[in-house]
Amino acid sequence: MRPLKVLSVTSEIFPIIKTGGLADVAGALPAALAQEAVRVITLVPGYPAVLKALKGAEILHEYPAFFGGAARLLSGTGADLDLFVIDAPHLFERPGSPYLAPNGRDWPDNARRFAALARAAADIGQGLVPAFVPDIIHAHDWQAGLVPAYLRLVAGPRPATVITIHNIAFQGIFPADLLFELGLPASMFTVDGVEYYGQIGFLKAGLQLADRITTVSPTYAREIQTPEGGMALDGLLRSRSSIVSGILNGIDERVWNPSTDALLARTYDRDSLDARSVNKRALQERLGLKPDSDAMLFGVVSRLSEQKGLDLVLAGLSRLLAGGAQLALLGAGDTTLEDSFQSARVVYPGQVGCFFGYDEALAHQIQGGSDALLVPSRFEPCGLTQLCAMRYGSIPVVSRVGGLADTIVDANEMAIATGSGTGIQFGPVTLGAAIDAFDRAKRLWRDKDAWRRLQTNGMKADVSWHRPAKQYADLYRSCVPET
Ligand code: ADP
Ligand code: GLC
Repeated sequence: MRPLKVLSVTSEIFPIIKTGGLADVAGALPAALAQEAVRVITLVPGYPAVLKALKGAEILHEYPAFFGGAARLLSGTGADLDLFVIDAPHLFERPGSPYLAPNGRDWPDNARRFAALARAAADIGQGLVPAFVPDIIHAHDWQAGLVPAYLRLVAGPRPATVITIHNIAFQGIFPADLLFELGLPASMFTVDGVEYYGQIGFLKAGLQLADRITTVSPTYAREIQTPEGGMALDGLLRSRSSIVSGILNGIDERVWNPSTDALLARTYDRDSLDARSVNKRALQERLGLKPDSDAMLFGVVSRLSEQKGLDLVLAGLSRLLAGGAQLALLGAGDTTLEDSFQSARVVYPGQVGCFFGYDEALAHQIQGGSDALLVPSRFEPCGLTQLCAMRYGSIPVVSRVGGLADTIVDANEMAIATGSGTGIQFGPVTLGAAIDAFDRAKRLWRDKDAWRRLQTNGMKADVSWHRPAKQYADLYRSCVPET
């Protein structure tokens, strides 16, 4: 097997900078691909957190004028990842979120910031770093969407391009008058190029011009080709459907392993599931819940946004909590949702516990201490928390959409009889169906043997990156001519 060189292009990467699952994917896939003879170097913006993490930095190239200021391309390692970094203080030397200003709005120059990311990637694709000329550039989400566009500006050989859609709701749409500033010729402002309903569409450009399009589950690959799920890109995706595929995410088993997890009060495996009760008690104490092992404890670890369907949990809260059940929620995002959960905590003291913000340790503690994990998303490209829940013996209660449909086997009567269930699914995504699922989860929890089987089934399932990494490697090889 010929070794391949892949340049992965991403705006976030775990454990250095993360707002969601994209970071987890970008951070875990390189090590998994190394097993498939694929060498990955990841290009990331030089945010303060990235520059701080970077070790053994070397300057590969200096740009005197790069999207409004001087910039350098650095190489090095950070958190054991091989990195290329665009050190461009005028674009990236800003605290906090990679995308948002302190006022909570997008940075006004995001078009320029992420065009710079794509431009540097294209330069590397065209041989800027002789020691690493990639066979493939793998662009993630709209932030890297312009890579295939910039690669077309120069004649001659170019690497193949793969773009992965992690969430089609974010498309990177900007005014047409930025075209010149972004270094794109007028000839590209067409329906076959970067033009998108009269504006510049970064994701659209990527989908139009890449050699392969992937998304993070087979079901989402189908959903985004429908008017309901495609968010106006379904027509384009249907027209390119022969190069669209869905590859499920895995989780990093080095990070998510209940038998070694130092963030838990007590580690355990599937032969020592009773030890989870120590984690449940610790979680109840941490979040001000009544310390009661007989209370069924539902967990949530989520961005708080419309996508995640947590308004259904609020609307169905009295049914969820009926009979003394509890809710432990870790979330950040929409302040209206935060306020509502905050009020719920006051209305149901000892039954609802919340933490608002980003907290890696608490995310692990909810997985290791809750009885069930709620993921009632309206749409979900893949979802990682239900995979973590399976690995941690918390039973996922999920809506039947996207990657949730592809990763959870509903414990219906037959699945219980055959011992194949791993969670509870509901559909359509309505309050009524969600409430039925809550009730079903509570009934099943009372059947300790059946519950234990669900837990062990989930814990036995392979949710690692092994299989997905093979699928990516096959995909890469399918678009590079054998030499
Ligand atoms: P998305 O990328 O849409 O947010 P995923 O389920 O793919 O959803 O990934 C979410 C990732 O972020 C998981 O690793 C999850 O544990 C983590 N996460 C979500 N919210 C928080 C939070 N408030 N604090 C810590 N980790 C969080
Ligand atoms: C996105 C999606 C999520 C997916 C993640 C990583 O943020 O919302 O479903 O798991 O990307 O691919």
